[in-house]
Amino acid sequence: MVETIEFDLIICGSGLAGLRAAIEAARKNSKIKIGIVSKVQVMRSHSVSAEGGTAAVLFEDEGDTIESHIYDTVKGSDFLADQDVAKVLCEEMPTQVRQLEHWGMPWSRRNDGRIDQRNFGGYSFPRATYASDKVGFFEMQTLYDTCQKFENIEYLNEWFATSIVHDGKQFMGITAIEMSSGNFYQIKGKALIIATGGAGRLYSFSTYALSSTPDGLDMAYRAGMALKDMEFVQFHPTGILPSGILITEGARGEGGYLLNNKGERFMKKYAASKMELAPRDIVSRAIITEINEGNGFKHETGVDCMKLDLRHIGDEKIKEKLGGIREISIKFSGIDPAKEILDIRPVCHYMMGGIHTNIDGATELQGVWAAGEAACNSVHGANRLGANSTSECIVWGKITGSLAVDYIEKHTNSNQWPHHLVSLEEKRIYDGIFRGNGDANPYEIKQELTDILTEKAYVFRNEKDLVEGLKRVRQLKEQTWKHVDDKAKEYNTNFSNVMELDSMFRVAEIVLVGAINRKESRGSHARTDYPKRDDANFLHHTLAYYDPNEPIMKTHPVTITKYQPVERKY
Ligand code: FUM
Repeated sequence: MVETIEFDLIICGSGLAGLRAAIEAARKNSKIKIGIVSKVQVMRSHSVSAEGGTAAVLFEDEGDTIESHIYDTVKGSDFLADQDVAKVLCEEMPTQVRQLEHWGMPWSRRNDGRIDQRNFGGYSFPRATYASDKVGFFEMQTLYDTCQKFENIEYLNEWFATSIVHDGKQFMGITAIEMSSGNFYQIKGKALIIATGGAGRLYSFSTYALSSTPDGLDMAYRAGMALKDMEFVQFHPTGILPSGILITEGARGEGGYLLNNKGERFMKKYAASKMELAPRDIVSRAIITEINEGNGFKHETGVDCMKLDLRHIGDEKIKEKLGGIREISIKFSGIDPAKEILDIRPVCHYMMGGIHTNIDGATELQGVWAAGEAACNSVHGANRLGANSTSECIVWGKITGSLAVDYIEKHTNSNQWPHHLVSLEEKRIYDGIFRGNGDANPYEIKQELTDILTEKAYVFRNEKDLVEGLKRVRQLKEQTWKHVDDKAKEYNTNFSNVMELDSMFRVAEIVLVGAINRKESRGSHARTDYPKRDDANFLHHTLAYYDPNEPIMKTHPVTITKYQPVERKY
């Protein structure tokens, strides 16, 4: 007999979006029971790694405007952002920055005491609100602290959600494994918010925590919801070598230079007006172009790279404003950025795609919302501007938390709980994976899968590589990796690793199929065989629906309210 737990609102994921949703729901209705189900301990959510900033317009008295934030976001997105959604983000954020401050967020300050902001790529005004370079850590601390004020929020930490239970029309609950005991549960609920973050561990060279695999996306996909725009993967220009850990864009915002092997600030050739602070897709392409033209460097590991010079910023300012990346550089690369130049290269950092939602974060299944990086409400289009991600988590955490409560208050579900579906799910997990036979090593398969994506669907793409990548992923999937050697019940990370891999195969395929189908270059998706943006044929979103054989691909219109697409120049 499967054990049962019951909540009104289930939130999968305990990062910024999940916690912000929980707070909004809890303060709107103190009677509803909220359960946050997370694969990790709350403060281990990947949101704690956010470094450089949270975008908002705070200085209208000094000339910044909400409209400029909206336009920068739309232009940065290469005109694939839904413009009504970008408007919601930019209009809501100033209030949210102050709200965070009231909850205890230690924003960095100007000398006059006002909250400070720094430059970030693609913006017309310094708009990245920061707390040294540990923005995500402090925001998470602030939200987690605030969550403690509400007695109706419960935490199921280190629980692995496996599937969504629904009756074909509306949400009924989820299934999950409590990792500490290994027990399988059905968790009944009236509403669900998916806030499981991005899936950047599909790539082996990645800034993401190891936990950032696509299990949340896959859960929605298998339940019939579309994944949208998955071909748009962001490569942040400055992953430090050899690890790929993020060196914040704030380092360039504080004045850092990118240099080629001729000692040139090469960005003058690619984005003369913005230089190092062009949007990320443009800077990453510039770095790889320079490398391809023989203007790069070789890291001691043999990897091609470029140089990031922060020495002129000075030791004191680096310690004050970039203390986190100073520590990362020293500990993980043995380099003090005040004294030596850093070796960097573009690294997988963000997925513009995710679970298809509308402007409110509602998915295609009644009773289910998605927020933060797991969602694709199309605010970032084909390329996200730095600092707009933590903002998105906060805004749609708030919106979805509130809407889920409205729904719960009105909703009654008289349908019978589908025990047979839970039994099928138990079989899928335990017979299909835990007790599966096989001789292929799932860790080696995972490495190979993520290497394929890094090699074949990186900054520049082409038909031959993408098709070859897809073929190799499909061949790899056929191997017998669905088995777990460690038969322990408690804390079986071998088991959770293989479950993660199971979701990675389905989502990797969608990234590659989407990238093959999009025969144009737009934002982060740069095809050497189709170097131009093609608005006549591809000014649309991509949708992928589940099918056991291969994803069913469809398109979805882009909402253009005010700004007709033009060529992006910086
Ligand atoms: O560079 C950074 O600090 C990253 C920020 C972001 O992705 O928004």
